[in-house]
Amino acid sequence: MHSIQFALDDESLTNTTITVAGWVRTFRNDRFIALNDGSTIRNLQCVIDQKEVDAATLARFTTGAAVQCTGELVPSQGSGQRVEMKVTAVEVIGDCPAEKYPIQPKKHSLEFLRENAHLRFRTNTYSAVFRMRHQVSFGIHEYFDTHGYNYFHAPIITASDAEGAGEMFRVSTLDAKQPPLNESGEVDFEEDFFGAESHLTVSGQLQAETAALALGKVYTFGPTFRAENSNTTRHLAEFWMVEPEAAFMDLKGDMDLAEGLCKHLISRVLRNSMDDLQFLDARLAEEEKSKPQDQRSEMGLIDRLKFVLENPFERITYDDAINILLRSKPYQKKKFQFPVEWDVDLQSEHERYLVEKHFKKPVIVTGYPAKIKAFYMRTNAPGDFGYSEKGKTVAAMDVLFPGIGEIIGGSQREERLDVLEARMDEMGVPKGELWWYLDTRRFGTVPHAGFGLGLERFVLFVTGMGNIRDVIPYPRAPKSAEF
Ligand code: 4AD
Ligand code: MG
Repeated sequence: MHSIQFALDDESLTNTTITVAGWVRTFRNDRFIALNDGSTIRNLQCVIDQKEVDAATLARFTTGAAVQCTGELVPSQGSGQRVEMKVTAVEVIGDCPAEKYPIQPKKHSLEFLRENAHLRFRTNTYSAVFRMRHQVSFGIHEYFDTHGYNYFHAPIITASDAEGAGEMFRVSTLDAKQPPLNESGEVDFEEDFFGAESHLTVSGQLQAETAALALGKVYTFGPTFRAENSNTTRHLAEFWMVEPEAAFMDLKGDMDLAEGLCKHLISRVLRNSMDDLQFLDARLAEEEKSKPQDQRSEMGLIDRLKFVLENPFERITYDDAINILLRSKPYQKKKFQFPVEWDVDLQSEHERYLVEKHFKKPVIVTGYPAKIKAFYMRTNAPGDFGYSEKGKTVAAMDVLFPGIGEIIGGSQREERLDVLEARMDEMGVPKGELWWYLDTRRFGTVPHAGFGLGLERFVLFVTGMGNIRDVIPYPRAPKSAEF
């Protein structure tokens, strides 16, 4: 059996007899099967000799039916493909009743396909997206492996809240209706499976830090969970995050690593996914036509990827960002929905203004106010990039991308035990629970840094899709966990 990709691309197969198997996309004129096996977005045209195949079998070549064809690959008569197959033997492996099959050879809305998520991989759009998701995932391992990082498996179940944002899903075997109570009348988690309140992890960072302070360089890559009630096109309740962490690395090194990773992944998809990219580029161009002129993006998908690959990311401080926003047209004209104020987090509308309108390229913002960032980030001193006269800032860095906003969040970590403990007290982070984390600062502490890249946000960027639910196989979001 040969993959259709090989059949189409390997010239040495021309004029030989091979077997392929896949699903019928269309069947025209009782003769031409467009067959797709998922190995490529392109179909193999399989030409049936009507005299050899009875009418009952011809009727079974419906869209979605699984079919195996054997025949000679010959130079194609029609345009559009180099070769086609002159079929000598054909077998229907799985029938697909046309009147019941939801996926027809026509344009379906993405909403409709989301409701049929189990079948949507059979469309051009989703097969392209998921082949590219694979390319990105594999590229992540490739990048870190070649840079000396060890793949580290952080636990999924945890008793600590890494981000301190309290947006965690509980993991419990207690009877939800009648939980055991302690003497104060509260739920007694000592009786629970893990003997303590436990949750699905929001980040593997804290555990990755413990490993980085021994192995030097590590990265996690796995599912993370957030119970934030954000029904947006950028948030999922279950998403995949990549978190590198390196000892003896400062903020500058962290920014270089983040930029290097993004560029490596983009160059990989430009090299390995050109067929899929061309399809998605055309799809996006079509979609843009329905938007008002001022909302259309200036570049097509492939041009945008090349542009990001070829240009250095802009590196600015939070102070710079606020100043630019305060001077911006949308701010002056009161077009922003959220306030622009020092000590207040940037909203996606602000991030997108900086990236899409002002700099027109990816931007890394550092030196955020301490108040709006997690407890583990390093406090800036005068002279540090991102230090501000306006108030206490930390060595945070967010990477902002066109069309997406924040794609990476990271920082240099606070390695000084006394400063870290003071910060935890200030922010109400329980030091007792995190005794093991604090031990890393007690025993051989060193400057170190890392970041988290949201896989789905990156896949959104490289595919040009508009909704994060379309780039993960089975999206989990508020009120939605079907399939
Ligand atoms: O900025 P965040 O919250 O950073 C952390 O979790 C750190 N512990 C990372 C680190 O320094 N090791 O999340 C990192 C990235 C975001 O920039 C975003 O791309 C993605 O994770 N992300 C989400 N993606 C989809 N749905 C959500 N609900 C997301 N929340 C964060
Ligand atoms: Mg963040």
